[in-house]
Amino acid sequence: MPNYPEPPFAEAIEAIKSLVPERLQKPLVGIVCGSGLGGLVDCIREPVLVSYNDVPGFAESSVPGHKSSLAFGFIGHDGIDVPVVAMLGRFHPYEGHDMRTVVYPIRILAKLGIQHLIITNAAGGLNPKLSVGTIVVIHDHLAFPNMTGMNPLLGPLTSPEHPRFIPLSDAYSPTLRRLAFLAAHHLSLDPAALAEGTYAWVSGPTYETPAEGRFLRQAGADVVGMSSVPEVLAAREVGLNVMVLSLVTNAVVIPDGYRSIRDEVLAELAGKRVELPVADVVSHEEVLEAGKAKGQVMMKLVEWVVGSIPSH
Ligand code: 6GU
Repeated sequence: MPNYPEPPFAEAIEAIKSLVPERLQKPLVGIVCGSGLGGLVDCIREPVLVSYNDVPGFAESSVPGHKSSLAFGFIGHDGIDVPVVAMLGRFHPYEGHDMRTVVYPIRILAKLGIQHLIITNAAGGLNPKLSVGTIVVIHDHLAFPNMTGMNPLLGPLTSPEHPRFIPLSDAYSPTLRRLAFLAAHHLSLDPAALAEGTYAWVSGPTYETPAEGRFLRQAGADVVGMSSVPEVLAAREVGLNVMVLSLVTNAVVIPDGYRSIRDEVLAELAGKRVELPVADVVSHEEVLEAGKAKGQVMMKLVEWVVGSIPSH
C-alpha cells in the first residue's frame, strides 16, 4: 500500500490567515489560471499575493508562464465586489507531483470557504469546428488516467465527511455554464467565440500522436489538455460548483491519412508529384502566445460570471 501522510491543512490555513488581511480571508470564488492566462490577476482589485513557498504543503510550479502565488482580492462588474482567490499557476502530474499534491490547493481553497471554482486552461482543439482562440465551456470530460489508476481521489479519505464514491454526471455546474454564455452576450462577443464541449484529460508531458488525436476525437472529445480534471474531482468531493473554460491554443489537425513516405517514393520513381497530408507540430510557445492573445477575453468572461453569481 502506498503511504499517504496527512496533508498540513491546519498549518496552511494558519499561514494564509497570517499573510492576508481579514476582509480578504473569506473568498466566495476560487479561480485557477492556466498556461498564459495569469493576466487574470490584473482584474483583481486590491490584490494581495501569497507565494506558494509560504504555504505549507504547496509545491513549486515549474512551468514557464506560471507565477506560483495565490492572489486574494475582489472581482466583479458594475460596482459589484465579490471576494475571490486566484491560483496563479497550478501543479501538474507531468511535473512529477503526486496526485494529492496536485489537488491540495483546491482542498485549501475549499477550507477557506469558497463555494464556486472557475478553472481556465489552454487546450488543443480536436473538433475541426473549433478555431484557435475559441473558448470552450466544458460540459463533460474523458479522463483516461482516472480509468487506469491515476485518479486523484484514490487513497484514504482526507475527511470522514467526504463521500467515497462521487457521481460525475453533474460535475460541471449548469448555473455557471449558463452565466458564461450570458456573459459572452453582455460582452458582445461573436457567438462563435464561445463554444461548449468535452475535455479529454491526458497526463502529458508529450503532446498527442496523430493516432492518439484521432482516437480522442472518435471517443467524443472536443479539446485535449493536461490539467483541470484532478481539480474538478477534488472540488466535487467537497461539493463546490465548478466551471472549466478551455482556450483553444492550437488545432490538433488530424489528416485523414498519414503522409505516406511509401506513396511519395513510389510516385517519385514513377516521375509524378504528390501532395500528401502533413500533421501539425505543436509547441509550448505557440500555446503561451495564444493564451496572451485571448487572455483578455477569458478575463472579461470570468469577471462577468463572478459578478453575476447569485446570492452573495
Ligand atoms: Cl495539442 N495537447 C495537449 N495534451 N495539451 C495541450 C495541447 C495539446 N495544446 C495545449 N495544451
